[in-house]
Amino acid sequence: MKSIKAMICTSALAMAASVGAAHADKLTFYCSAQEDWCQLMARSFEDATGIDVNMTRKSSGETFAQVKAEASNPKGDVWWGGTGDPHLQAAEEGLTEEYMSPMREQLHAWAISQAESAGNRTIGIYSGALGYGYNTELLASNNLPEPSCWNDLLKPEFKGHVQMANPNSSGTAYTTLASMVQLFGEDEGFEFMKGLHANINQYTKSGSAPIKAAGRGENTIGIVFMHDAVKQAVSGFPVKVVAPCEGTGYEIGSMSIIAGARNMDEAKKFYDWALTPEAQNLALQVNAFQVPSNVNAQTSDKAPDMSTIKLIDYDFAKYGSSDERKRLLKKWDDEVSTLPQ
Ligand code: F6P
Repeated sequence: MKSIKAMICTSALAMAASVGAAHADKLTFYCSAQEDWCQLMARSFEDATGIDVNMTRKSSGETFAQVKAEASNPKGDVWWGGTGDPHLQAAEEGLTEEYMSPMREQLHAWAISQAESAGNRTIGIYSGALGYGYNTELLASNNLPEPSCWNDLLKPEFKGHVQMANPNSSGTAYTTLASMVQLFGEDEGFEFMKGLHANINQYTKSGSAPIKAAGRGENTIGIVFMHDAVKQAVSGFPVKVVAPCEGTGYEIGSMSIIAGARNMDEAKKFYDWALTPEAQNLALQVNAFQVPSNVNAQTSDKAPDMSTIKLIDYDFAKYGSSDERKRLLKKWDDEVSTLPQ
């Protein structure tokens, strides 16, 4: 028969084990969407599941580099948000895990085709068109003409007035580079990037920084996803949003589970939850005006209307491939970023 002491010890051990198990429910979440949306996703998932979330926000290219650097000893579990190209590259390089979510049947075809082109190692969570925005007051006070096309940004009077991110760190800026190559052809696309370089005042790390700076009156024109410019306008800043006249590229913002994730069950729970209409509707609370991938989620009436924007047929398979992304970034580093300004 067990002594009382032994019974107390056994039940204390059992309690400790169960407390330990509760604490073991955690998730390391790499986020490449906007900071306030990342925070809200992390806290809401904690509330919905009791799983502790440790979130880090970095730009798409930076997160790709981190996941790659950590591949032999993965620290992240799930990577949510950011442009699709680096997620596709991660899939091709075996850095992310194949997963078929039961939520797939609720998604738009563009979200599924992103998954299918990557052997189901990533999936589309939102989409949004590239464009630019400008500070109307700064434009007027500098007597500058209203730009409406990509080529307008090359005009000499815009020297020092245009800002974009660095395509190595930022998915927005890589989308810009790949869009110009697809829109104008490779030679002309690079000529465009060189002409633009002459007018750039700063290459930022994060994709949306140039339009936040425009909102604050520290920069005139920011090349960004249009939804990021709308967010500034809706927040009351004097920002006008432009869908460039020549046409433009777009993103399929994506989500991937990191290969070898330490918290694989929690990563899959997050993945399924992030595809629900409830989770996708959180976007509206932080003025995130992307188009959600769940057909039952709400798209804000302030979101840029994709059907009225002249979109190119962005070749995600090609421009998200490892070779092509590396090649274009190297060419931009060698031939554009080194030019005098
Ligand atoms: O701010 C949101 C957003 O523009 C997303 O739509 C996009 O996927 C992401 O940021 C890209 O961020 P970055 O250019 O910093 O990689």
